Amino acid sequence: MIGKVDPEKGFWTKVREEFLLDPEKSFFNSGTLGTMPRRVFERVVNHLRQTAEKIAEWDYYGADWISGYQPFDEIREKIARLFNCDTKEVALTENATAGINYIACGLDLKPGDEVLGTDQEHPGGESAWKLKAKRCGVVYRQLPVGKPIKSPEEVIETFVRAIGLNTRVLAIPHIITGSGAVLPVRELCAEARKRGVFTVIDGAQSPGHIRVDLREIGCDAYCGSFHKWLCAPAGTGFLFLRKERAREIWTTLASTQWDNQEDHGFRLSQRGTGNLSLLFGLDEALDFHFELGPDRVYSRIKQLGDYLRARLLEVPGIKIFSPLDPSMCAGITVYTIEGLTGNCLQDELWKRGRLRVRSMGEVYGVRQSTHIYNSFEEIDRTVEILKELAAGR
Ligand SMILES: Cc1ncc(COP(=O)(O)O)c(C=O)c1O
Repeated sequence: MIGKVDPEKGFWTKVREEFLLDPEKSFFNSGTLGTMPRRVFERVVNHLRQTAEKIAEWDYYGADWISGYQPFDEIREKIARLFNCDTKEVALTENATAGINYIACGLDLKPGDEVLGTDQEHPGGESAWKLKAKRCGVVYRQLPVGKPIKSPEEVIETFVRAIGLNTRVLAIPHIITGSGAVLPVRELCAEARKRGVFTVIDGAQSPGHIRVDLREIGCDAYCGSFHKWLCAPAGTGFLFLRKERAREIWTTLASTQWDNQEDHGFRLSQRGTGNLSLLFGLDEALDFHFELGPDRVYSRIKQLGDYLRARLLEVPGIKIFSPLDPSMCAGITVYTIEGLTGNCLQDELWKRGRLRVRSMGEVYGVRQSTHIYNSFEEIDRTVEILKELAAGR
């Protein structure tokens, strides 16, 4: 399989050149923080410089030089277009964690009400529910889904069996941080909805990574980060709140528009003065994504991920924690080599090949995220080093 024929190599090589990444190093940790193309970086820096140099020229008659007080409809419209929802259903947040907290804090729940999640949540996905449990007597239950997960059906069955009379909320990730599993959120939301359960999807890993159609998924809330896979600056994210259920969520951070019942997205974007330069960076990243073509991006990420998973099978002693079902995998792969720790794999891949993957600790090895700035050759180099390590060299 080595030396995979890549008919799109020329195109993606040019895309890679749009990034400021060092060509001598391979970056495989977009699951933590992606990187910005030059044009996004420059839009942020230019606006920051303008703010520092020319703030005296801001006369308050025209557009704001800060974020926090305006609805920024043009940016929210682009987000709504990408995810198939309405502009007023989109709140601008710092990240997925903020969105999940706004939902957990803003939802009226009483002691004994139950929230269901998985046993593989990121702290940003579960902590707001743990807080809710401690503060309000809500029962937060995490269901085992397996690692690797075997099939979408098994996950659906686990949740359908668990939903009971007291279940009020289903709060699950779209993509699991520690395995890259893409959960069957559409089916799970449909089951929850039939039973009147409010659905919240932790989409920290999805924007710019896989197709997200919020009408199709049918969730009530969806929280995402743009700084991982959408190549936007750190500190940019969104919260979607379905208009039919928006009134159920109280505002957590209140400022001037705290009770705006016409534009719930704006109501939930209230957080005082913020950095507009970052929002302009997000705007540029959305344009970049639309110009590349979202489907082309998702398909490239998936091809790279599938290639990595296929080639890993050549490594003796390999153990893959990502799902066995390829329909549940995209750009995140988690694996180890029996007898080696995640830190050892991370350090050796860096030392020997300048390949930056992320250690997942003692048991679960490393997480390798394949993005549009990666190539099949970089994956080949990873596998060659893994084979050396597996052979004890
Ligand atoms: C599934 C999941 N949820 C939440 C988070 C937290 O993301 P953020 O720090 O951008 O809010 C992450 C980050 O890796 C994640 O993978």
